[in-house]
Amino acid sequence: MKVAAVIPAAGFGHRLRSSVPKPFIRIAGKPLLAHTLLNLQSAFSFADTVVATAPRLVRRTLVLLKECGLDRKVRVVGGGRTRAESVRNAVFRVSPSCEWILVHDAARPLVDPSLVARLLKAAKSSGAALCALPATATVKDVKTGRVRGTLDRRNIFLAQTPQVFRKKFLLERYQKLGKKALRATDEAALFDGSRVRTAVVNGEVRNIKITTPDDLRLFQFYLNGKR
Ligand code: CTP
Ligand code: MG
Repeated sequence: MKVAAVIPAAGFGHRLRSSVPKPFIRIAGKPLLAHTLLNLQSAFSFADTVVATAPRLVRRTLVLLKECGLDRKVRVVGGGRTRAESVRNAVFRVSPSCEWILVHDAARPLVDPSLVARLLKAAKSSGAALCALPATATVKDVKTGRVRGTLDRRNIFLAQTPQVFRKKFLLERYQKLGKKALRATDEAALFDGSRVRTAVVNGEVRNIKITTPDDLRLFQFYLNGKR
């Protein structure tokens, strides 16, 4: 399977309220983006890896890659205004020989090799696969501070990355959806209502997305447990 990894890393991380852009925040001596890339590279031998960063941070990202010895394996492109646009920019720059795209958020540093293997296997038969956690809470439909109803939790899953797609299918969806594709909050959403049925594999609780200062503390906690 010739797979390209696409890593959206062009967000600033406003909810972290840090003066340093989120991909460059150091945890246990390494920038967040380096944690994610090194973990991902140890999970699978990707034929190509493209990171999308904020255009003004491209040079800084190249320095980071050199620092963690990934400058020969990983390329950098300028990201867009939304996550979806950043991913699309990177997908368009992937080596033409890659038939598969694995999209993974820079903000999820604890991606596990076995999860990548399960996703690739699932995508091979369906053309698209994501990982997700079944909802454990009771889920309310709320509008303007008032409950409109209670959703059937058995049908609710919280999507994570990595997500894997046949590149041809992803390009078809970009073509079909045009600008609408730039509002999607994950790539699997591009396949909603299409003939491709995205396979769901079990996500992992520790595959957290670093969003708030609490998530940074949780990441540190998991790292300590590993040592
Ligand atoms: N991302 C991106 N391009 C954007 C916005 C986000 O590539 N224009 C990336 C982020 O870098 C991150 C992933 O998408 O790896 C998930 O986004 P999120 O967790 O929301 O990160 P940020 O957008 O950086 O955080 P915030 O929304 O708090 O500013
Ligand atoms: Mg964001």
